[in-house]
Amino acid sequence: MIRKIKILSDDLHVYFNENDEIFSNIWLRDHARDEENWDKRSSQRKTFTAALDFKIKIKSAEIFDDGKSIKILWPDLQKPVTYSYEFLSSNSLNNKKKISNLKLWKDIDLKDQIYIDFETIQSNQGYKDFLKKLYKYGFAVVTNCKTEIGSVENIAKKIGYVRNSIFGGLWSFESNEDKADSAYTQEELRPHTDATYSNDAPGLQLLLCCKYKAKGGHSIMVDGFKIAEIIKKESKELFEILSTINVKGNYIGDGVFLEAERPIFNLNSNKELFQVSFNNYDRAPFRFEKELTTKFYEAIRKFDLMANSREFQWRHILKPGELLIFNNWRVLHGRGSFEGTRKISGCYINKEDFDSSCRMNDIY
Ligand SMILES: [Fe+2]
Repeated sequence: MIRKIKILSDDLHVYFNENDEIFSNIWLRDHARDEENWDKRSSQRKTFTAALDFKIKIKSAEIFDDGKSIKILWPDLQKPVTYSYEFLSSNSLNNKKKISNLKLWKDIDLKDQIYIDFETIQSNQGYKDFLKKLYKYGFAVVTNCKTEIGSVENIAKKIGYVRNSIFGGLWSFESNEDKADSAYTQEELRPHTDATYSNDAPGLQLLLCCKYKAKGGHSIMVDGFKIAEIIKKESKELFEILSTINVKGNYIGDGVFLEAERPIFNLNSNKELFQVSFNNYDRAPFRFEKELTTKFYEAIRKFDLMANSREFQWRHILKPGELLIFNNWRVLHGRGSFEGTRKISGCYINKEDFDSSCRMNDIY
């Protein structure tokens, strides 16, 4: 609640029950949400901000509804504008959003908490629980799915929509021992994130096991955020390299030449990690001075040896009807070598659509 306000020359000092904060007049005027300045239906600003007086003064201000809101009268508006406690406190500088709902993990930390039944997620509450797991751990396994591509589509459509890419939308892939040679062996795929060559790497990947008559072929998950946390603690210098040097990735073939670059640990303007991006298979050639070259190789060695160590890897052979879904901006994925037949269906979903679904369901 708001217990006191004080009009200053260019600002309004607001005293909440828990703390106090100074809001600039221009910011408050710009965020006027009355009929004249705000389109309620579309949640869009109508104000022509550039035309406002940046030195605007408050004519009068009062607390209303026992501290639930304040009303401010501005010199350029006829009616006072209401600002709710919720609006002001949710925009407080003290109210920095934290990613504390994330549980960073090593293999030992995971038991059954990442599994959820397909039928369960068909209900609203079940879907919310599923999303919570996916957000918290960076991946989940949906059990008892029908072994058909429709199951992938069903889950994808709950979150957002299927992303189209060079691989198509929904896809199926079968590795068959009769395919190439007599004995068809698939080599291990080391942990990586997909599409380091894309400026907007897919946010989620879904992989449904439709058929498994094979030996091996473990799905591997590695929490890239956990590795980042450890490297940050152990070596400021290597963390700095991994979070500042742009690593270029490319995809050449199938009639396209895609290329993008970003650091392996992608930080936002508050220096918080929001994306891990690493794919040694797709790394493009790029150079820097000798000293930095040595440091860079030291840094990726540290990162990749951790990602390839058993301690950081959750390994599981997907059974028919199990669908693995993971956050490609956080969790690296890999696959153990196998022999035999394996049929997988899957798709990508954009990161922004996953984020949107999380917000709509109050996950963060
Ligand atoms: Fe991949």
